[in-house]
Amino acid sequence: MMNLLLLSAVINNPLTVIPTPTHVSMGTGSFELNAKTVVVADGLTEVVAKQLRAYLQPATGFELKSKRTAKSNRIAFFTTHDPQLGLEGYRLKVDHEGVGIWANSASGHFYAVQTLRQLLPVEVFGARRTKQPWTIPAVEIVDKPRFLWRGLMLDVGRHFFPKKEVLKFIDALAMHKMNHLHLHLTEDQGWRIEIKKYPKLTSIGSMRKETMAGHYSDHRHDGTPHGGFYTQKDIREMVAYAEKNHITIMPEIEMPGHCQSALAAYPDLGNTGAQLPVRVDWGVNENVYNVDDSTISFLKDVLTEVMALFPSQFIHIGGDEVPKKQWKESPHVQDLMRQRGLKTEEELQSWFIRQMDAFLSSHGRRLVGWDEILEGGLAPSATVMSWRGTKGGIAAAKAGHDVVMAPTTYTYFDFYQSKSIATEPTAIGGFLPLETVYAYDPVPAELNAAQAKHILGAQGQLWSEYIPTTDHLEFMAFPRTCALADAVWRAPGSTNFKGFRDRLTTHLMRLKAMGVNYRNPTIGSQAAVGTWRSGQISEHWTPHVWDLTSSFNKAGNYALTFQYTSGEHRLDIDGIEIEADGVIVATDGHRGRTGGEDVQNVYRVRLAKAYKKVLIRAKVRADGGSDSNGELYVVRER
Ligand code: ACM
Repeated sequence: MMNLLLLSAVINNPLTVIPTPTHVSMGTGSFELNAKTVVVADGLTEVVAKQLRAYLQPATGFELKSKRTAKSNRIAFFTTHDPQLGLEGYRLKVDHEGVGIWANSASGHFYAVQTLRQLLPVEVFGARRTKQPWTIPAVEIVDKPRFLWRGLMLDVGRHFFPKKEVLKFIDALAMHKMNHLHLHLTEDQGWRIEIKKYPKLTSIGSMRKETMAGHYSDHRHDGTPHGGFYTQKDIREMVAYAEKNHITIMPEIEMPGHCQSALAAYPDLGNTGAQLPVRVDWGVNENVYNVDDSTISFLKDVLTEVMALFPSQFIHIGGDEVPKKQWKESPHVQDLMRQRGLKTEEELQSWFIRQMDAFLSSHGRRLVGWDEILEGGLAPSATVMSWRGTKGGIAAAKAGHDVVMAPTTYTYFDFYQSKSIATEPTAIGGFLPLETVYAYDPVPAELNAAQAKHILGAQGQLWSEYIPTTDHLEFMAFPRTCALADAVWRAPGSTNFKGFRDRLTTHLMRLKAMGVNYRNPTIGSQAAVGTWRSGQISEHWTPHVWDLTSSFNKAGNYALTFQYTSGEHRLDIDGIEIEADGVIVATDGHRGRTGGEDVQNVYRVRLAKAYKKVLIRAKVRADGGSDSNGELYVVRER
């Protein structure tokens, strides 16, 4: 009896659909799609029927016919008015006669199609014809998303990603039922959108002289110009393509900081009159817009062209990381503050954002900003994107403002995916593994039910300082985007990482068939080989020894990573030496640190042969105290 029950649990749960459908009820038998299968659609569902045929054609080779009715061997779309399905939900039923799909909206039909693709053999995601029995298991699925905002942010400012690559990315988002693509279009290091009234924004602002090489703490540059921008025609094409995939592209035009590319093009927009270059270094930048009426007008002109291109109700104006130094030091800005009755630079920033809020609202749009827009008073209609943890989001929701959750700890996909960073491509720092993304619940426990309604959803962040290519972008995005898609779609309380991991094995084959790169989640999960704990490390430079004989166990090149995990104090490292059988046989003397940000925290040494006993001696200190915890990881390299 026990075995039968176990067996039925397995049989009852064979689907590998990501994100997890809200309700699945397995039937018996299956339906086999063939060249004679017809797609049943009417005026309202013709578009999605055509998309389905286009999805199925390359791998199956079937040129499916569309019809108004068919009793059997059919995939039929129906429009219903079923309140339990909401705006984006669907019901999908597969039996031996075929597939029925019911939804209240085109989005619901589209998401049913995404599920249907995942019920077919993974080969259906490929671009080339393959011979398969195209079998779909009998099942009834009733499914709808938990959140309205299921998004991803792509920073095309730090590195430019051409239109074609963005379209490919949209395909991958759509497959995960994600519905917002936030394009971070302007940055210190590049202006990426054609604005007809201000052509220098792109003729000058879209190109930088060179790019940082390695980690920014290395202070190296590659000497190679980098640039690119989207013409307005490109933007229209991307917006239309996204719309077909039920994705809204939300543009971000950064202000009043992160704008050096605009200042390079039009120095009058700045505070110092200096002719600045498009910035080549990463990080927060003190060059910000001035607060003249003419600068406000310039930004309204830019937003006017942006609104004409993007139907998105939400328009993002940035607002993060604005050093107030130039405003403090400028007598002219101080004069304007007095004239406007503003006491602090924070109030001035708030004034700035309010100008944009009123302007966007008067055009029927809604302003979105990073959580710094709370400082100095939130603009009346603003929606907050909470990135420095959840505090900003909680405060905004309590004040009755809508919120999109984007906290670094759960959604910054520019963070490392492994603690053993020696084998990872250089990233900004941090550690955000798949499990953590998967487990994310965007609604903070601090909110009551009414406040929680203001949490529109969540999005992942792909800041691209360290992401120069599409291959690398996909490596950082997947499978963490699969996990986030699950977190923002699945019913609350249905969290099951092990189940997700099992389904992911099949799901990754779909990505592979689509030609989408991803990080193999089975690598880099090796155990730590050593630790340091709170109280063990002095705040003064002291040698600390670990016995790593079992890891440094043969001849070869090794990379040793110091990885801070918790505590008040980071770990500083002033070189390591390897003592093998009582003799110093190798050293790596460079200065590094881990915690807060990780800087050169990987040490490389070579062993000429195997030894009986291998000790690592590192000169370390915990910065400002001894509350530091962390782990050591070792990989043997080629
Ligand atoms: C941000 O990461 N500066 C929003």
